[in-house]
Amino acid sequence: MVVSRILSGIKPTGRPHLGNYFGMMRPGIEWQDKGEAFYFIADYHALTTVHDPALLREYSRSVALDFLACGLDPSKAVLFRQSDVPEVTELAWLLTCLTPMPMLENCHAYKDHLNKGKVPSHGLFAYPVLMAADILLYNSNIVPVGRDQKQHVEVTRDLAEKANRTFGPIFTVPEASIVAEVATVIGLDGQKMSKSYNNTLGLFEEEKVLRKKVMSIVTDSSPVEAPKDPSSSSILALYKLCAEPAAVALMEDQFRSGGVGYGDFKKRLFDALWSRFAPLRARRAELASDPAALDAILENGADRARAVALPTMSRMRQAMGLR
Ligand code: TYM
Repeated sequence: MVVSRILSGIKPTGRPHLGNYFGMMRPGIEWQDKGEAFYFIADYHALTTVHDPALLREYSRSVALDFLACGLDPSKAVLFRQSDVPEVTELAWLLTCLTPMPMLENCHAYKDHLNKGKVPSHGLFAYPVLMAADILLYNSNIVPVGRDQKQHVEVTRDLAEKANRTFGPIFTVPEASIVAEVATVIGLDGQKMSKSYNNTLGLFEEEKVLRKKVMSIVTDSSPVEAPKDPSSSSILALYKLCAEPAAVALMEDQFRSGGVGYGDFKKRLFDALWSRFAPLRARRAELASDPAALDAILENGADRARAVALPTMSRMRQAMGLR
């Protein structure tokens, strides 16, 4: 595939966790050297759950800082706030008029909501169309995401193809880029790590909190002497993400042979996580001390994003008969 534009987004609904980092932020940062990368803080999307304006603003800035601290280089990648290019909501409306209801009724996030007995807002129902607008507005062809977003990228592809069939070749048809080993990072309870399951390890968690959370990882009740199953352990799965291969191999051997308790493994996991993210933590503190620099990065990102978005928007308006 010819790489031209890479794009992805993250919702400012809280502080990013290890699932966000390994599933999207780190792969996204690697992409910034391979093509034109666009990353945005999906604040319109966050409105499906966050209804506190001060909190939304704080989360938006804080996610941007986290991304920069992790290595996003604003001289290479474009970092912007979704709502700084409000044309995306216009494109979402145009796409909405091409979207069959059953396509959205079939989406996991909506179905999960219904299954939990909650009443979904129209925003939650239409969420995948706004996401398609994000991707198509910027003519993106590669979308680095975790596995939970795969279906949304498929919806985007369907809508792009339908728009192109109906109105002529307007949109690039994108592809999801999912890194197999980190497609679904698991959380403290063995399910997918997710803010909504309350099972996350934050990227920049305070030391005490992180230690407490790691020590609370759910395990079976095998005694210290017993051999343990390495394949089903959340501790090992997380350790693999942040420890050196030799240390991982040692832990795997000790799982199989027995003689080491889960408490000991958890301590090693905590140490590996703490030291893995120490340099990023220092960088984040530095970035946080200069709020004006962050404003400038986001403003510059919004300018660069608009320069790509506006021509697409005007092509689509024209093609649909609005101008
Ligand atoms: P969000 O904010 O839920 O998550 C941001 C990214 O993190 C990935 N992720 C994970 N990856 C692996 N394991 C996990 N446990 C895990 N948890 C989260 C997500 O897959 C995602 O890539 N709808 C998107 C935001 C969005 C977007 C877009 C993404 C809006 N518009 C356009 C791409 C393109 C979301 O809610 O991500």
